[in-house]
Amino acid sequence: MPNYFALLPAAGYGSRMGQHTPKQYLTLAGKPMIYHAIRAFFQSTHIKRIIVVLSPQDPEWAKHDWQTFSEKLTVLYCGGETRADSVFNGLNTAAEQCAIDADDWILVHDAARPLLTQQALNQLIETLIDDSVGGLLAVPVADTLKRGSPDARVIQTESREQLWQAQTPQMFRRAMLLKALRMVEKSNITDDASAIEAMGHHPKLVHCIDDNFKVTYPQDLALAELILHNRNKP
Ligand code: CTP
Ligand code: MG
Repeated sequence: MPNYFALLPAAGYGSRMGQHTPKQYLTLAGKPMIYHAIRAFFQSTHIKRIIVVLSPQDPEWAKHDWQTFSEKLTVLYCGGETRADSVFNGLNTAAEQCAIDADDWILVHDAARPLLTQQALNQLIETLIDDSVGGLLAVPVADTLKRGSPDARVIQTESREQLWQAQTPQMFRRAMLLKALRMVEKSNITDDASAIEAMGHHPKLVHCIDDNFKVTYPQDLALAELILHNRNKP
């Protein structure tokens, strides 16, 4: 039976958030944002180990207390220039250090997605358990889509039929993911599925019904705070 490992790239700087502290460490419901992402995997009985990939120059991790998660947590200071570099470096290092087999499942999850629920995580794992490729949480596009010119004039309205917004976790087997990331031009992709697609595979889109957006801009932080607060109400 394959094991399940979570891999959290957390080596970004959050430039669109516009704060001095990298966004994964900004306080959300009293904890650093990444705490919530780690907790979702810590609470899941499916997940054997959580691997956090930090920048070699990470200024923040050591300032916080991660004792609660220690029995399942591995921290690697091997993040790279792009998200794909961080995932690739982390997976390469962890494959040996954490004894990850070729057909074990890797669930790559953005440190900046603090809203992942057990329901969504279980849905992803249960949908893909026998899948030959793997897949990702995603939501069908809800808004009307416009293609714009460089001066922000509408060129045309695009059909949103069959368009999905990719989220994380994105779940692939270790060997396939490493091979895909080794082959792809890492600066051209912003998720793991893109690398798998470049090898000619078709990852499964698993409809995520709970809020699971990525905190990117300052206003996202306030909304995430509100959602966590409402979920924790008795
Ligand atoms: N990430 C990473 N290594 C990088 C860039 C990003 O591990 N070189 C991580 C981020 O820390 C985040 C996830 O990938 O958890 C998703 O990336 P994104 O939301 O783009 O975060 P940032 O790159 O930090 O933000 P921005 O693009 O606004 O600078
Ligand atoms: Mg980025």
